[in-house]
Amino acid sequence: MIRSVLLGTGSALPQACVSNDELAKRVDTSDEWIRERTGITQRYIAGEGETTGSLATEAAQAALDDAGLTIGDIDLIVLATATPDNTFPATATQVQHKLGGKGFPAFDVAAVCSGFLYALSTADAMIRAGMAKRAIVIGAETFSRILDWEDRATCVLFGDGAGAFVIEARNVARDEAEKAPGIISSRLHAEGEHGDMLYVDGGPSTTGQVGKLRMKGREVFRHAVANLSSVLAEVLGDAGYQPSDIDWIVPHQANLRILDATARKLGLPMERVVVTVDRHANTSAASVPLAFDVARKDGRIKQGDLVMLEAMGGGFTWGAALMRT
Ligand code: UT7
Repeated sequence: MIRSVLLGTGSALPQACVSNDELAKRVDTSDEWIRERTGITQRYIAGEGETTGSLATEAAQAALDDAGLTIGDIDLIVLATATPDNTFPATATQVQHKLGGKGFPAFDVAAVCSGFLYALSTADAMIRAGMAKRAIVIGAETFSRILDWEDRATCVLFGDGAGAFVIEARNVARDEAEKAPGIISSRLHAEGEHGDMLYVDGGPSTTGQVGKLRMKGREVFRHAVANLSSVLAEVLGDAGYQPSDIDWIVPHQANLRILDATARKLGLPMERVVVTVDRHANTSAASVPLAFDVARKDGRIKQGDLVMLEAMGGGFTWGAALMRT
């Protein structure tokens, strides 16, 4: 059977880092409130010339370098974003061009904060179907550009950034499947009836404007813990693993309290949860690959580890993927 194996990771952050205290000079909030309710202490905000596409390109190039490959080795790019550089063309096509690639498919997927799980599952399915051999999967966002900076309930929560994986098709014998690297199982879900709980109040076909992010935070919080707990159980069940088998969980970084509640429901200690929400805030589709790259580069995630990725976001959409590194 074919498995998609991780060859390299990369990430990129804007230059400007904005602390809670700096934000409190512009918005009616405080470092104490933001820390207590979310765990966030700072976020990176894109400046002039920094876009979703430029951050995505930097992260993708870093992942290629990490894998010891060049763009000539790649035959697919899938990019998750809710903040593309333009309504079209897809940002993925521009990343392909900037990296010096040509001819192979490149497209965006829109599933907001769970976008990276959707992109990774799509690339994995295409690899297993024989449609691609080596893919770059990217999550990249500049949410600072769709925030209402007058709305303190949302603008303090988000940041900008990008993360990328390079994955490759590899043949795995069935009797070696348990210890073999690669994506073992993934599940995706959506429930459009909750579209009004987390959305952007504009778009090309409605207002003709980009719009601003709106969120009913409490409701999103409640659904996030319930949905994530159930999808984690589903993926573990598919793969025949117990929560205690997981070496690392790399969750979408929305709120430290969500990470804590989800880990507790799973019976996993916080020591096995990769946390970057404190320094990156919520970077939507970028948060999972960004956190993964940080934990891999600092030596926490090692070769052979069993790692669970999970995310939940606007739509609602949510998903999880279990992989061995
Ligand atoms: O990535 C997609 C998924 N997104 C999420 O998972 C976000 C999920 N939601 C959350 O993380 C939390 O609901 C929030 C962090 C957004 C809010 O935390 P909360 O404990 O649910 O607070 P709240 O919205 O109920 O607000 C509590 C109080 C309110 O004041 P009153 O009405 O109690 O007097 C707010 O006006 O906190 C006030 N408040 C603030 N105060 C200082 C709201 N935002 C701020 C702020 N600074 N930035």
